[in-house]
Amino acid sequence: MALVPYALTRPFLFGVDAERAHDLTLAALASLQNTPARCLWSAPRVADPVRVAGLRFANRIGLAAGLDKNGRCIDALGAMGFGFIEVGTVTPRPQPGNARPRLFRLPEAEALINRMGFNNDGLAAFVANVARSRRFRAGGGILGLNIGKNAATPIAQAADDYLLGLEGVYAHADYVSVNISSPNTKNLRTLQSDQALDALLGALGERRTALAERHGRVVPMFLKIAPDLDDAQLDLVAATLLRHGIDGVIATNTTVARDAVQGLAHADESGGLSGRPLAAASNRVIGRLRTALGPAVPIIGVGGVLSGADARAKIDAGATLVQLYTGLIYKGPALVREAALALRDMRR
Ligand SMILES: Cc1cc2nc3c(=O)[nH]c(=O)nc-3n(C[C@H](O)[C@H](O)[C@H](O)COP(=O)(O)O)c2cc1C
Repeated sequence: MALVPYALTRPFLFGVDAERAHDLTLAALASLQNTPARCLWSAPRVADPVRVAGLRFANRIGLAAGLDKNGRCIDALGAMGFGFIEVGTVTPRPQPGNARPRLFRLPEAEALINRMGFNNDGLAAFVANVARSRRFRAGGGILGLNIGKNAATPIAQAADDYLLGLEGVYAHADYVSVNISSPNTKNLRTLQSDQALDALLGALGERRTALAERHGRVVPMFLKIAPDLDDAQLDLVAATLLRHGIDGVIATNTTVARDAVQGLAHADESGGLSGRPLAAASNRVIGRLRTALGPAVPIIGVGGVLSGADARAKIDAGATLVQLYTGLIYKGPALVREAALALRDMRR
C-alpha cells in the first residue's frame, strides 16, 4: 500500500489544537511503527547518495530536530524516505517545558510559532528510546542526536549540560548537533557570542577527543545556529567553528522576527517562527556562512522548505544537506520524496 494522501488526514489534524495534533500523531506513529500499518505512511527512499563529514547519506533530505524530541518514532519517521533524521533536543534532566498553549499555526503563511521550551523526558529515557530503534539505521539511515541545556541550569554552567549530553548520546549517534539557538530557553542564544562560543566549543572539542579514543570512533559535531545573527556575528561564528574543528553547521533554527507575518492571527505570540516566512532569512545565513567557511565545511540548510524548489534554493544558497520540519505539517510525508527527487535531479 502507498502513502495515504495527506489531504485526507490534514483536515482532521488541523481541526484540533496544534500540540494535541502533534501528540496524537506521534503516539500513533510510535505504536504502529513496527506493525504492517507502517505502510500507511511509508515511501521508497530516493537514492541520491552523498558523503558528508565522513558519513554516507542515502539522500540529502533530513528531518529537523524538535518533532521527535524523545526519539520515540525514529523508525516510523525513517519510513517516510528521509536520508537522515535528527531527534531531540534532549536535556540532561527531564523537564516539562513552557506552559500551554505553546504551539500555534499560521496557515495563511504556512508557518508555525512555538515556544515549547525543550519539553522532554531527559537523557536516560532518550538514550533508551534511541537504542531500541533499529530499522532506520539498519537500512542505512543516518541518525543525528541534538543536545541542549536544562532551563534551570544557569547559563554560566551551560557547558556542563552540553558535556553531559555529549557523553550520554555519543555511542548512539551518527552525528551530534549542539543546539545553542532556541529562542525559548532564557539566554541560550548568548552562547553564540564570541567568548561564550569559544569556551563551549573548546570544552566540547576536548571531550569529543576523549570520547573518540574511548569509543574508537570520531562522531561528527554540528553546531545549530539562529537566523537572527547579523553578518559580523556570522563571520565570528564561522571563524570560531573553523578554529575548533567543528564538522559543520546547521542553519537555521526558528526566528524571533515577525515582519514576514505582520497582522496574521497568532503573529504576536512569543517564540520562534518557522515555515515559509523563514526561508529567505535562513538562505541569507547559509549564503554568508558559505562565503565565510569556504567550500569544504558542510552546511545543513533548514528553514521554510515546503517544496522541491525550496530544497533546491537551499543548495543554491550553499547548503550541503537540507532539513525540514514545518513543511511536513503543511504538506505531509510526500514532501520528503518530492524534495529528495528535486535534489537528485539537480545533479543530472
Ligand atoms: C514545534 C517546533 C519545535 C522545535 N524544537 C526544536 C528543538 O527541540 N531543537 C532544535 O534544534 N530545533 C527545534 N525546532 C526548529 C526546527 O528544527 C527547524 O530548525 C526550524 O523549525 C526551521 O525549519 P522549518 O521551517 O522546516 O520548520 C523546532 C521547530 C518547531 C516548529
